[in-house]
Parts: sequence; C-alpha cells; structure tokens
Amino acid sequence: MADFERIRRAARLSVAPMMDWTDRHCRFFHRQLSREALLYTEMVTAPALVRGRALHLLEHSPEEHPVALQLGGSDPAELAQAARLGEAAGYDEINLNVGCPSDRVQSGTFGAVLMRDPKLVADCCAAMLETADVEVTVKCRIGVDEQQPAELLPAFLETVAAAGVSRFIIHARKAWLEGLSPKENRDIPPLDYDLVLETKHRFPDLHISINGGITSLAAAKGFLEAGLDGVMIGRAAYHHPTDILARADRDIFGRDHVADPVAVAQAMLPYIEAHLAAGGKLGQVTRHMLGLFAGRPGARAWRRLLSEGAHRPGAGPELVQEALAHVTAVRGAV
Ligand SMILES: Cc1cc2nc3c(=O)[nH]c(=O)nc-3n(C[C@H](O)[C@H](O)[C@H](O)COP(=O)(O)O)c2cc1C
Repeated sequence: MADFERIRRAARLSVAPMMDWTDRHCRFFHRQLSREALLYTEMVTAPALVRGRALHLLEHSPEEHPVALQLGGSDPAELAQAARLGEAAGYDEINLNVGCPSDRVQSGTFGAVLMRDPKLVADCCAAMLETADVEVTVKCRIGVDEQQPAELLPAFLETVAAAGVSRFIIHARKAWLEGLSPKENRDIPPLDYDLVLETKHRFPDLHISINGGITSLAAAKGFLEAGLDGVMIGRAAYHHPTDILARADRDIFGRDHVADPVAVAQAMLPYIEAHLAAGGKLGQVTRHMLGLFAGRPGARAWRRLLSEGAHRPGAGPELVQEALAHVTAVRGAV
C-alpha cells in the first residue's frame, strides 16, 4: 500500500520534472541535499514504455524516494498500463504532464494541449487510478492560447478532481502553443500567482502546489504560509541546488538537518565509483553537480574543473576530489 501521507508531506517542496536534467543521477544528487523534498523524473512517455518497452527509463536508485514518475500521454488505456509499470518499478506517485508545450509533444497530443480537453484528462486519470495503487497527480498550466484562466482553471480542476485526482501542481502561467518555443513558454507568458492562491481558497480540499519562477527557499516558505500546500521549483533548484535544497529539511519540513555541500560532494563519490564500474561516464553525474557551490567561495574553480575535466578519458572520482580540494582551500582562506 502506497504511503499517500508521506508523499503529500514531501510535496511541500518538490523539484520539478525537467527533461534531460532531472535524470536519476540528478535526483540522487538532490537527495543528498534534502532527505525530505519530493523529486520528479523527467517526463517519460506512455508510448515509450508500453509500445517501445523502454523499461530502462524507469530505473532509479532506492535512495531517491520519495520520487514521482511523470508520464506523458493521452490514451487512457496506454497511460493505465504505463502507470502500472511505474508502480511496479516502485514509484511513489504517477504524475500526468499537462503543461509541456513542445512541438514533438503536441503532435502526440500530450502536455499542455490537453488543457483544452479536461474530460480526456479526467478519463486518463481515472484509468490510471483504477490500475495503480499510487497517488495520481496532474501538473498543468493555468490555460493555453486564448483560454481565460480565471474561468478555465476552476472548470479544469473540477472535471479532473471528479475523476478522483486530489493533488495538482499548477505552473502559474499560460502556454502559447503556437509561436513560442518551449523555453520561451517558461518565461514569456506572465505569471499569475494570485490566480493559483485564489484557486486554493476555492478548492480547499484539493492539495495544490504552485510552480513557476520561484527562486528562493524564502519565497517557497511564503507561498506555504499563504495557504498553498506545496511549492515546486525547477530551474533554480537545478542551477542553485544548495540554496534551494540544503536548508529545506529544516526550514520547510521542520527536521533537524541541514546539508553541507562539501559533505554532499563527498557522498557522491561512492555513487560515482559505482556508476563508472557499471560502464557509465563521470560527466553523466557531475554535469548535474556544477551548481553545488553556486554563490559560494570556490564556485568558479569547482565548475571549471568539473566541466573541463569530466570528459577526459579515464576521468574518475579523483577529479571531484581535486575540485573539492580547491573549494576547501578557498573556503579556508576566507
Ligand atoms: C530543461 C527543462 C526541461 C523541462 N522538462 C519538463 C518536463 O519533462 N515535464 C514538465 O512537466 N515540465 C518540464 N519543464 C518545466 C518545469 O517542470 C517547470 O514547470 C518550469 O521550468 C517552471 O518552473 P521554474 O520557473 O521553477 O523553472 C522543464 C523545464 C526545463 C527548464
């Protein structure tokens, strides 16, 4: 039986699903910074799992829990099968992507375009809920294109909640499906935090997380104090992981734990060794760690040594130790 309460607690702070970024190595690294925050996979499409049998996309380490699998798709039966595979692989939550505006995704009727078809989203979620005994959640936008978010969003939530979904993550901006690139769609449409706050007041029984443009732990705390149930952070958590995650266990979850980035780097060494022993490459892990000391003494040397050295033939954990020695030397000097 899945531990729904634990996941809901963890969802007070989550790291957003990000394609090519939040892979298993990134999540393992983030987990060294926070024991409590909820982590999300990159989006995995239901067709890749069900038709392509790409089950390697589900591989993850036990240390990553609590961890949610994000699925992309719009076929209820296929999503149900994918959710079952996700549950069998051990994921704590299955999240449906209703926010991603990329062309490739639009062509398969996944992602943000589904904001136009709440009934289909509801059917997809009902099928997943029927099949898998894990929490099914939806990550959505406040609308797309010419839709009026103030009307659309409550109607969307009502329809999907009627199918049994009670937790939503709302990226507080529209997506423009024509004319903006996926990257522009994460910056250009204006953020409407007030609408998300109003939505929480209107649906007090739904668990609602806010996402989009949140760049500090203090801001995250502010949203929780304002009544939201959770805050999801994407880019800031990736580029400034220590700022967002190292104090999260204490400041957001009330636990007696603050991570030291030096200890985090050291904790990654056995993981890196195991990855290399299994035939992996150093850069596949260290590319996610470049921001570990961002804004702190030694940040530049750390980033430079890792990014320049990780791809050299034979590069191994000694490179991380060398970069760390630079950081600790600079730290000692200030
Ligand atoms: C590189 C990158 C990849 C992303 N991939 C996904 C994805 O696979 N699924 C998804 O729902 N959102 C994806 N997003 C959107 C983020 O989850 C998040 O909603 C968005 O970046 C806004 O949050 P932020 O301002 O805190 O970064 C991606 C964002 C970035 C930067």
